Amino acid sequence: MSERIFIGVAWPYANSNLHLGHVAGAYLPADIFARYNRMIGNEVLMVSGSDRHGTPVTISAEKENTTPEKVAQKYHDSFCRSWEQLNISWDLFTSTETENHKKVSQDIFLKLLDKGYIYKDSVKQFYCESCKRYLPDRYVEGTCPLCGAAGARGDQCDVCGKPLNSIELKDPKCKICSSTPVIKSSDHFFLKLSAFQDDLIKWIDSVNGKWRLNVQRFTKNYLEGGLKDRAITRDLDWGIPLPIEGYEGKCLYVWFEAVIGYLSASIEWAEKKGDKDAWKPFWLDKDTKSYYFIGKDNIPFHTIIWPAMLMGYGDLILPYDVPANEFLTIESQKLSKSRNLAVWVYDYFERYAADPLRFLLSINMPETGDADFSWRELVRRNNDELVATYGNLCQRVLTFTFKKFDGKVPPKGDLDEASVALMKQSEDTLQKVGELLSTCHFKDAIREAMELAHSANRYLDDAAPWKTIKEDETKAASSLYTVIAVISALKTMLYPFLPDSSQKLHGFLGFDGNVADSGWKIVIPEEGQQLREPSILFTKLDESIIEEEQARMGI
Ligand code: MF3
Ligand code: ZN
Repeated sequence: MSERIFIGVAWPYANSNLHLGHVAGAYLPADIFARYNRMIGNEVLMVSGSDRHGTPVTISAEKENTTPEKVAQKYHDSFCRSWEQLNISWDLFTSTETENHKKVSQDIFLKLLDKGYIYKDSVKQFYCESCKRYLPDRYVEGTCPLCGAAGARGDQCDVCGKPLNSIELKDPKCKICSSTPVIKSSDHFFLKLSAFQDDLIKWIDSVNGKWRLNVQRFTKNYLEGGLKDRAITRDLDWGIPLPIEGYEGKCLYVWFEAVIGYLSASIEWAEKKGDKDAWKPFWLDKDTKSYYFIGKDNIPFHTIIWPAMLMGYGDLILPYDVPANEFLTIESQKLSKSRNLAVWVYDYFERYAADPLRFLLSINMPETGDADFSWRELVRRNNDELVATYGNLCQRVLTFTFKKFDGKVPPKGDLDEASVALMKQSEDTLQKVGELLSTCHFKDAIREAMELAHSANRYLDDAAPWKTIKEDETKAASSLYTVIAVISALKTMLYPFLPDSSQKLHGFLGFDGNVADSGWKIVIPEEGQQLREPSILFTKLDESIIEEEQARMGI
């Protein structure tokens, strides 16, 4: 039975280019999941957009001596180019700068206000006397009151991952001028998180065994600490204005409105496709499963704050799963933008293709623990596995068939025991990979598929049709037929990970149209089906790029 799947993916701040940490953390797993679900016939809506507001963007604008609009637009454009290159199959990638998003966010604010889940209170805030301004979250840095780490930002501590109220920071310093700010009072609105404490605990207990353990544990642990109400407005003019009079110079807190983007983007998607109610089943139907793909630093916003907002609003469905990923280290070091220890997506694509990267980040995905990206590993995985195992398997069989069987799929004949076993393995693997993908075990899924490629190579070495053809053409034909069936299975199960090469292989096997349209099943080309002359599927990478690329990063 087909299902309806909503896929929300973290909205990247429009203040920096995308790097591989973003890709491995959220965008690649989401895309694999979306492609798989579409392929099995599920109805999928995958959305995200640029997170354009808030202090991350204003701070960058101040640093680059330009306006927040310009910064946000520049990075939004850069994101869109990166999605093309990475092959991320969005149904909509928008931004928080649209009229629609503003309207939806203000509506939610008003409804929660009306229901008593948002209330006004006067707050103590840091005010910098030398800069003559209130200091929103990221304009203050200090020591984390919870774990004692230095360098915590006013909104969140990167070391313990907990969201903070900036006023709680110890030894606060103004980020612009480094002086110690003073405390002043001003009026702000609060989200009454405390009202949802019990319902959230009940809900998080109900997902037992379904969610990744780290995500559930983090959430539970956080809830057990007791939820404090949080201010959801800020003294800032870069953002969505409050929909009530008398609060000029204040706007909605960036996190409060960014998560609303999941809903507003769905509404925008429906409007764009000319069916303005099409978003409704994705948000109102209890049978819809909504998945949120995010990095682990975003967990509390998606497992506590957004669900609380949804509960308060009423009727809208809660996350079904939040398969948050851990971090990606680069060459065994913590990714650091300031030290240029990052691989930028735009820069990667100056020299390399999508599939080798998608392959490496899938087979080594930071799912349940941090994972490392290194150029040596990229070269090794590309050369040994994509080129030597998968690519070579296809190449050997297709070129040989092309030469000896007139480019047509050879007759099946009677399959011997080894062939039957390999066919069976293909069926089993396809099913196993499907199960793993539907439960967000991406790394295990691609490993299973590659096991099949290995088995097929061994089978081909043993069957050696280039030898048997001399004395027994029927037998050679039968083994070629078998491997052709297996590579057809591989192009299907590897499609969510490697869409480019699967599409190419689909063509080589003589099929037309989009590989994804054949569905999640093994479509064996018929005996006599005309193949297309194969060209290279994957290109070998020269070992020398390892040092070259490391030198670019200064290591
Ligand atoms: N912009 C945030 C970040 O990069 C993520 C926002 S996710 C959203 O960490 F759901 F709130 F949009
Ligand atoms: Zn200052």
